[in-house]
Amino acid sequence: MNIRFIFFLSISFLLFSCSSPKTKEKESAFQEVYELSEMAAIMENMYDFLNENRELIIEGQSTLDIPDYFIEIHTAEMTEGFQRDTLLENHTESFLWNINRLENGENSDRIALFNNTITSCIACHKSEVGCTGPIPRIEKLMITTKLN
Ligand code: HEC
Repeated sequence: MNIRFIFFLSISFLLFSCSSPKTKEKESAFQEVYELSEMAAIMENMYDFLNENRELIIEGQSTLDIPDYFIEIHTAEMTEGFQRDTLLENHTESFLWNINRLENGENSDRIALFNNTITSCIACHKSEVGCTGPIPRIEKLMITTKLN
């Protein structure tokens, strides 16, 4: 890895993650890349899970097992500066409600239910309890065209 690549890594981390440089102590680029709160780690896992299942949903797969860790966003420790208040709880509830509908919904409705779920990710991120950094990444999960 050359120094430019390391620089790129830390810049993209700051741009696309929720942690603002202000709340960070002086650390090396590497520590910054690897330091995720419990909540941030769950978010990354949820992102990967939905991204992996996206294609299958477009193709009309019939089952979707939502992993148990999704519900841990109720209790996961967050990066300094984030607060577990009523607004965060409301967004959490509405997100989990959508996830539950996605899991148990009819196969024919799954694209719409998937998009509702992504919309509720974005709703929390746009609110004052979320953070805008990851929004462009999350938006790419939306299924905008129905293939076949
Ligand atoms: C209830 C509010 C809420 C919902 C719903 C939510 N997020 Fe987040 N998200 C947060 C908060 C708060 C953080 C910052 C966590 C921290 O740094 O401790 C975060 C952080 C992230 C991050 C950055 C993690 C990092 O590397 O720093 C990504 C990516 C992300 N969320 C994606 C998603 C996706 C995808 C969904 C939907 C599947 C989603 N979020 C739903 C509140 C939410």
